[in-house]
Amino acid sequence: MKTFTFTQENEEKYQETLKKYPNSDSMMLPALWLVQEQEGWISPEAMVYVANRLKKTPIAVYEFATFYTMFNLKPIGTYHIELCKTLSCMVMGSQDLKKFIKETIGIEPGQTSADGKFHFSEVECMGACGGAPMFALNGEYHEKQTIESLKKTLQECK
Ligand code: FES
Repeated sequence: MKTFTFTQENEEKYQETLKKYPNSDSMMLPALWLVQEQEGWISPEAMVYVANRLKKTPIAVYEFATFYTMFNLKPIGTYHIELCKTLSCMVMGSQDLKKFIKETIGIEPGQTSADGKFHFSEVECMGACGGAPMFALNGEYHEKQTIESLKKTLQECK
């Protein structure tokens, strides 16, 4: 059976964060973020690991992980494109960006490209409405996007 454990670096981050959130409920989200930062997704093995670390049941961790849509519950591509689909971004052209992604990479929201390079998600407002339309690439915000700027960003993904 596969197992999960934090890397040395993430173990140190975990210990640091534990000082701020000594309650195991409040530590749940930071612990899951660390898992996702390390693996790109949250595997069942990682949920068991987090449960053991926080003295919770695996089902309690599963409930947290499945409630928040930003947690990936299966492996995704190397580059995760999260395109905002909410009002400001939609009015400013997010649907054109979506169409471009579909035409150039060949994936719809929720899909990973055949080569495993890109995963595409449509998400609700990411709080950067002033920079609409926007997307995040592996968590990094790209605001005031055009087809040209999106194309350039995607080409830079090695
Ligand atoms: S509507 Fe897109 S970031 Fe708010």
